[in-house]
Amino acid sequence: MLTPNINLTNKTILVTGAAGFIGSNLVMELLKTVTPVTIVGLDNVNDYYDVSIKEYRLAEIDKLAANCPDSRWIFVKGNIADRPTIDDLFHTYHFDVVVNLAAQAGVRYSITNPDVYIEANIIGFYNILEACRATMNSDHPVEHLVYASSSSVYGTNKKVPYSTDDKVDNPVSLYAATKKSNELMAHAYSKLYNIPSTGLRFFTVYGPAGRPDNIFQSCDWSEKQTA
Ligand SMILES: NC(=O)c1ccc[n+]([C@@H]2O[C@H](COP(=O)([O-])OP(=O)(O)OC[C@H]3O[C@@H](n4cnc5c(N)ncnc54)[C@H](O)[C@@H]3O)[C@@H](O)[C@H]2O)c1
Repeated sequence: MLTPNINLTNKTILVTGAAGFIGSNLVMELLKTVTPVTIVGLDNVNDYYDVSIKEYRLAEIDKLAANCPDSRWIFVKGNIADRPTIDDLFHTYHFDVVVNLAAQAGVRYSITNPDVYIEANIIGFYNILEACRATMNSDHPVEHLVYASSSSVYGTNKKVPYSTDDKVDNPVSLYAATKKSNELMAHAYSKLYNIPSTGLRFFTVYGPAGRPDNIFQSCDWSEKQTA
């Protein structure tokens, strides 16, 4: 479903995975470009990779937020797979926009650690969808759900360049299967309950303080920390 652009001024936005690479950059971009805005960041700050990178990113957000007195930045440490945590957040803040970036990332890690993928990417995403659904008949429905999918859904697709019209029914990792499942779940919820949603198939996203498991990261985060 195509939806018009949403004016984010004065809105309350949930960003899950806010201590992560993409999430932290999104929070900072929102703080820089939208005034006033309320951003609630949720992240369980897990140790899939060096936690100090996540703490560094959160500290950078705190510094920026301190210079944005008209906006609010609230960080909550919690797990999207924990339904009461999600329901409490939605009841407290009445989100206008929800951006779900929290997930267990990584293709290789899913070969040896499947449980965390089911917990974060399937149960966690289901909780987000259910919390959005619960708002739809209220006087404050979620205006838009944006969520992270992945280029991994293209699997062994040989045709280049990839297209969103390509068939993506052959995932070659559990990670890819969970991301494809997210797309199907979001599609069903969007159709059934009129939740406007957009899935983003990120390709390798890299930059300062990027994920250490991402071989294309352009700069060592520790250099940034001392800069
Ligand atoms: N960076 C890329 O190249 C890339 C490519 C394709 C898809 N993606 C997707 O984009 C999203 C963001 O990726 P990223 O590179 O910022 O990854 P990241 O690992 O840096 O960020 C994800 C964050 O989610 C948090 N998290 C994980 N499980 C959680 C849970 N159950 N509850 C709450 N928080 C949880 C982690 O602590 C982490 O801070 C992910 O969904 C990822 O699968 C990223």
